[in-house]
Amino acid sequence: MAEHVEHAQYADPAEPHPAYPVGLRLSGRRVVVLGGGQVAQRRLPALIAAGADIVLVSPSATPSVEAMAEAGEVRWERRRYREGDLADTWYALIATSDPAANRLASAEAERTRTWCVRSDDANAATAWTPATGRSEGVTVAVLTGRDPRRSAAVRDAIVEGLRDGTLAAPHHRERTPGVALVGGGPGDPDLITVRGRRLLAEADVVIADRLGPRDLLDELPPHVEVIDAAKIPYGRFMAQEAINNALIEHAKAGKAVVRLKGGDPFVFGRGMEEAQALAEHGIGCTVVPGISSSISVPGAAGISVTHRGVAHEFTVVSGHVAPDDPRSLVDWQALAKLRGTLVLMMAVDKIGAIAAALIAHGKDPATPLAMIQEGTTAAQRRVDATLATVAETVRTRDVRPPAVIVVGDVVTVGVGADAPNRPE
Ligand SMILES: C[S@@+](CC[C@H](N)C(=O)[O-])C[C@H]1O[C@@H](n2cnc3c(N)ncnc32)[C@H](O)[C@@H]1O
Repeated sequence: MAEHVEHAQYADPAEPHPAYPVGLRLSGRRVVVLGGGQVAQRRLPALIAAGADIVLVSPSATPSVEAMAEAGEVRWERRRYREGDLADTWYALIATSDPAANRLASAEAERTRTWCVRSDDANAATAWTPATGRSEGVTVAVLTGRDPRRSAAVRDAIVEGLRDGTLAAPHHRERTPGVALVGGGPGDPDLITVRGRRLLAEADVVIADRLGPRDLLDELPPHVEVIDAAKIPYGRFMAQEAINNALIEHAKAGKAVVRLKGGDPFVFGRGMEEAQALAEHGIGCTVVPGISSSISVPGAAGISVTHRGVAHEFTVVSGHVAPDDPRSLVDWQALAKLRGTLVLMMAVDKIGAIAAALIAHGKDPATPLAMIQEGTTAAQRRVDATLATVAETVRTRDVRPPAVIVVGDVVTVGVGADAPNRPE
């Protein structure tokens, strides 16, 4: 059952009484819409979503309204309004382009005790449409009298706050133990999903990686326990087992746990291993996808991995083990034959060996590539090279992880001198 909150304000000195806010339950109930123009187009989706039995009376309609009629969501009578249309009607939307017809329909609504809204004359209406929005089972409806822009702005602020968790509105339901595996995006705190951000705001415990939107951790209230699961390459790291155990322990203690991961949890992210470990202990897990660095980091550096006419495919490959390493699962010979874009992750340390393998298997040594370090953060940096020069360039230009390496002609395509992130 959805929760509903109503935020109604009314302050018009000409009106002695404020409007009385109410949520109409229109499922299966006759609603008449007069006029098939822009007003109907904007209001019909919510009436359809409410399950109303909608009759549209109008000689013409916009293409979108027509599509709703064709889809059977609305019964369309192609004619003008006539007396009697509002019989047995619970609610009416009067929005024709003919003021005389609107007045007649309004008078009929008054006689038949049908609540009606008027697009042309709010004073003549018996109901007003609030600015509405929904987020996670909450319906927000805002009335500000004669200031629809303010209504919309207040509605937007509330919905946005609910979505991103900045408006504290805790669920007063019993919490079931569980973990949310949240993809945090590539690093810029604005690039987490709204669902991820809301879950973060509701968490008791956050277990975070080094990559991802670490700035968001600063916003968490002091009671939230933040555990650093940093897996720094060749440095201090917390074993996966320890991470799994922490997730299990806190979930079993009834805490709301967020496992905040860089990018998407299932792209070289060990997300499934964590979900499996939780499942073995009977603990549910919500997966919130994230924006993977594999395409967002090139994008932030002005690279389209599938520029039309240049690449018909892009392949995302982990370069964390060298091509000659027996643990490698990558077919470098096959990759060398592809004409499209290669996106290499975790490959900075092995890029010399990777470039040599691609060249040995037939790839042109002059193939251009771009290395984007710390993409989407304030420290973002792009360094360009070719397969032949990359090993040397990484050394001389001190390219360090985390970086995404894009190999292929797409790196030479851009928007010219005004490109947002040109190579150094
Ligand atoms: C263990 S993988 C995790 C990938 C992540 N799950 C994703 O979908 O983006 C780590 C690698 O992602 C890449 N990466 C992640 N964030 C990055 C960033 N902000 N800039 C450049 N590369 C990044 C680097 O190749 C890094 O070595």
